[in-house]
Amino acid sequence: MEQLRLIGLDDTVVFPSMTVTLPVDVGDDSRVFLVPRHDKEYAAIGVVAEVVERVRLQGGGKATVFKGLHRGAAGAARSAADGQLLVDVEERPDVTPAPSHTAELEREYRAVVLEILDLRGDDGRVAAFVRAITEAGMLADTSGYSPDLTFAHKVQLLETLDVVERLTLALRLQRERLAELQVRKRIREDVESGAQKQQRDYFLRRQLDSIRKELGEDESSVADEYRQKIIAAQMPDAVRAQAEREFGRLERMGDSSPEASMIRTYIDWLLAVPWAHRSEERLDPVHARAVLDADHAGLDDVKERIVEHLAVRKLRTERGVPNDRRSGIILTLIGPPGTGKTSIGESIARATGRAFVRMSLGGVRDEAEIRGHRRTYIGALPGRLVRAVRDAGTMNPVIMLDEVDKVGADWRGDPSAALLEVLDPAQNHAFRDHYLDVELDLSEVLFIATANVADTIPGPLFDRMEVVRFDGYTVEEKIAIARGYLWPRQVERNGLRPDEVSIEDGALHTVVSAYTREAGVRQLERELGTLLRKTATRIAAGTIVAPATVDDAVVREALGRPKFHQEAAVRTAVPGVATGLAVTATGGDVLFVEAATMAGNGELVLTGQLGDVMKESARIALTYVRSHAAALGIDEGAFRRREFHIHVPAGAIPKDGPSAGVTMVTALTSLLTGQPVKHTLGMTGEVTLQGRVLPIGGVKQKVLAAHAAGLTDVVLPERNRGDIDDVPADVRAAMRFHFADCVDQVLALALEPRQHAIAA
Ligand SMILES: Nc1ncnc2c1ncn2[C@@H]1O[C@H](COP(=O)(O)OP(=O)(O)OP(=O)(O)O)[C@@H](O)[C@H]1O
Ligand SMILES: [Mg+2]
Repeated sequence: MEQLRLIGLDDTVVFPSMTVTLPVDVGDDSRVFLVPRHDKEYAAIGVVAEVVERVRLQGGGKATVFKGLHRGAAGAARSAADGQLLVDVEERPDVTPAPSHTAELEREYRAVVLEILDLRGDDGRVAAFVRAITEAGMLADTSGYSPDLTFAHKVQLLETLDVVERLTLALRLQRERLAELQVRKRIREDVESGAQKQQRDYFLRRQLDSIRKELGEDESSVADEYRQKIIAAQMPDAVRAQAEREFGRLERMGDSSPEASMIRTYIDWLLAVPWAHRSEERLDPVHARAVLDADHAGLDDVKERIVEHLAVRKLRTERGVPNDRRSGIILTLIGPPGTGKTSIGESIARATGRAFVRMSLGGVRDEAEIRGHRRTYIGALPGRLVRAVRDAGTMNPVIMLDEVDKVGADWRGDPSAALLEVLDPAQNHAFRDHYLDVELDLSEVLFIATANVADTIPGPLFDRMEVVRFDGYTVEEKIAIARGYLWPRQVERNGLRPDEVSIEDGALHTVVSAYTREAGVRQLERELGTLLRKTATRIAAGTIVAPATVDDAVVREALGRPKFHQEAAVRTAVPGVATGLAVTATGGDVLFVEAATMAGNGELVLTGQLGDVMKESARIALTYVRSHAAALGIDEGAFRRREFHIHVPAGAIPKDGPSAGVTMVTALTSLLTGQPVKHTLGMTGEVTLQGRVLPIGGVKQKVLAAHAAGLTDVVLPERNRGDIDDVPADVRAAMRFHFADCVDQVLALALEPRQHAIAA
């Protein structure tokens, strides 16, 4: 027991390891006892503190710097000669519990405090301090620094001697603070975005006004400026009338009204629409074709369709054919990612001399996004169309409705309804944005839409579309695109000159076939970028001297192990696996259908994220094989007390459609007869219960995928025979096509000679 000088702290709590400076003189004492008090009432527990420094204040007073050491309880007290109070102190340092008791609490506490600091905008220093503390008791005591805790709470913390109890208490208190802060933040944000923003605008305007006055530009000149602008904008009569009406309101109301800033914003928006601006349109098909050719390699059929579309527009304009519902067909580019849809849209704008704006519709679910909010909403703004026209700066731009297949609809309304109106020539000369609330003539806009797949485009919208398909590129086409466009562009982006680096054809081929698997060329461009970045680094570092040539060896070194292998041979080496051809949102692809059997009671298990239609195909396949077992050379017994499992790997990608039917029959037959499937052959086609092979879609994309995967033979439904005209000639020459009416023919083509049959 030690006798120490008692210092009462009014409404202040000092914790162990805190440093405080107090305006007291403690004589020669090296330790004191600091006890919080309120209205002369002392807390039960105080802190034993050591004197760190004695300070002489300006004006002669004395102060002392103390550092808290540990807790203590006060015993008997007596007055000293100098009138100071001395107390017996029973020291109560923390008893640190086993870490296992406190680890969870500590973690929680830190997390809560760090979140609070984050909300308060701490610069990281306090957070680092809290993180550095390893003792549970001390950690709880950091609450003593919290500006949000009341004196009573802090005393309570001080008086809690048990460390676990104290940390639990501190955690509870801080959690309450956190919840409070979060609510406060939310309220602040709500208010700021609404009323307070108006207030702020108002004050800024007041400041602006006084600055103007200082500069000698008084109120009336600002008003004049608006009047001038309204005249200069050459708005249609109705719009000008509306602008003048609003402007009159603004003048009458005076700048001090909070509504004034809303009216100004509105007038600014009216002024932002390029009412009288249009670019000189060029509708010359020959010139258009030349521009399209300059920007994109290949895509002949696509370019042709586009030029035709433009030619028809030209004729209609020249002959003054009135626009009706049927003439408003909108050009829609549909195809896998990276095949040049967006970029050909830009080319169309260039070819026709129009401005270009892209409007991404991906994830738009609210009609107001397209059409704006009514002005009665706080923070209302015009919709995307008005903004697109403003960005274009002309009334006749090309507006690309990108990703129309990804517009959604929910309770906030259906954006596609607004789009329909915009695309309808009978209505779009008088489009009404909710915010602007005046008629906007969109009839001169050339709308072009893009999508990855046609299925998810809302039906009524799809009806009005003229679809141009981008099916993906052949290896040769990709190489040509790389040479002519991607390589030069990446050379430039990486700070190199064309004469400094070149790439061999063989190396390009390797990049295309071993490092990318895609219908488009995005990945290819990225890989070329990587290649050139590494080359540029080497040239800059002096490891190699320009001009550098990129060959196969350089490719392998820079890009690492090839990412794709021609895997059909490995996969189909065992009976029960067949190679199918499919179309997904990313283009054509080969997929392997695997069949297995084991003891069971006739069930069919299906895995690989198959859609309903694909599941039905699998059932049909099994029924077909079972009902034709004898003819297929399969022992009836093979089905008794067995179950079957069909899996289509790459389980993360959802697959659907009937076109895997023939592949499933082939996989099952292969499994049950023990005859493996030819590894150079891919197939596609729907199968009926009678074994007829029905036609399917996406022939071009599927054949391109088969070619890219190294297959040489493709089995297609007889009725798809005409579709192979769409396949580029070089691919057609490199592949053998087989056409089948019934699944027997498919099996005869696909199965290798028998190895061994599965025993019943
Ligand atoms: N035929 C081509 N000739 C030259 N460059 C091309 C060609 N096809 C695509 N590209 C280039 O490939 C890149 C990707 O094309 P783009 O962004 O237009 O793809 P997209 O079809 O719009 O894809 P997504 O569906 O993902 O939006 C662009 O930089 C484009 O210039
Ligand atoms: Mg795009």
